[in-house]
Amino acid sequence: MMAEPLVQLRGVERRYLAGGTSVAALQGVDLDVAEGELVALLGPSGSGKTTLMGVIGGLDRPDAGSVMVGGIDVAALRGDPLAVYRLRTIGFVFQSPGLVPLMSAAENVALPLQLMGRPPAGAETSAFKALVSVGLEARMRHRSFELSGGEQQRVALARAIVKEPRLLLADEPTGQLDSETSAAIVDLIRSFRGRTTIIVATHDEAIAAMADRAVKIEDGRLFTGSMVSAGK
Ligand SMILES: Nc1ncnc2c1ncn2[C@@H]1O[C@H](COP(=O)(O)OP(=O)(O)O)[C@@H](O)[C@H]1O
Ligand SMILES: [Mg+2]
Repeated sequence: MMAEPLVQLRGVERRYLAGGTSVAALQGVDLDVAEGELVALLGPSGSGKTTLMGVIGGLDRPDAGSVMVGGIDVAALRGDPLAVYRLRTIGFVFQSPGLVPLMSAAENVALPLQLMGRPPAGAETSAFKALVSVGLEARMRHRSFELSGGEQQRVALARAIVKEPRLLLADEPTGQLDSETSAAIVDLIRSFRGRTTIIVATHDEAIAAMADRAVKIEDGRLFTGSMVSAGK
């Protein structure tokens, strides 16, 4: 028997009401992602990528359909279990790094571990290792406002991966970076393969090419079936 997919979405619907009109941000979305896969979610601006990532990551809730991640019924979570899900199961990287400006790189990376109740010494060691894995050990003590945009995004990656999340969600992680810096971020995300399952949202076909598989989203509808498999 095939192993259960880590992520399983069925019939996911999400509508927004804005300015008197209703926008179907997600329509009948079915998606399976196997443990260990690196999937690119490819679609133009406004196609529903962020909405889909939010629904999977427990930042948003579908109006209909089911969202299962690692056997957890994500759409049904409320309160503490939802907070724990976001903190432990999911690593999130957004278009903007969202670091705490006055905290050092190491403090930013250790923060989620502290929220998880890890002892400070262990959190510091893990933060150091995560910063090594993104090549930033030399910037550990820099406060985040003293880092370049690309460096800040590497710290954000370290902060997402330090928790060893089952699922890493990266929403247009190179959206604010020049192409050379973007390539370095993409290489780093690839280097996390084998450590976690990854979904990367992007409008950039070149970025999608690094994935095991690309799924396309357009007007809230997902196309998986006959997709030309990206990259390798
Ligand atoms: N909070 C919101 N309120 C109203 N409409 C929204 C909201 N968030 C997203 N939308 C709409 O839903 C659609 C999908 O948005 P989004 O998921 O952000 O797309 P993408 O990330 O692919 O650019 C867009 O048409 C957008 O305008
Ligand atoms: Mg988006």
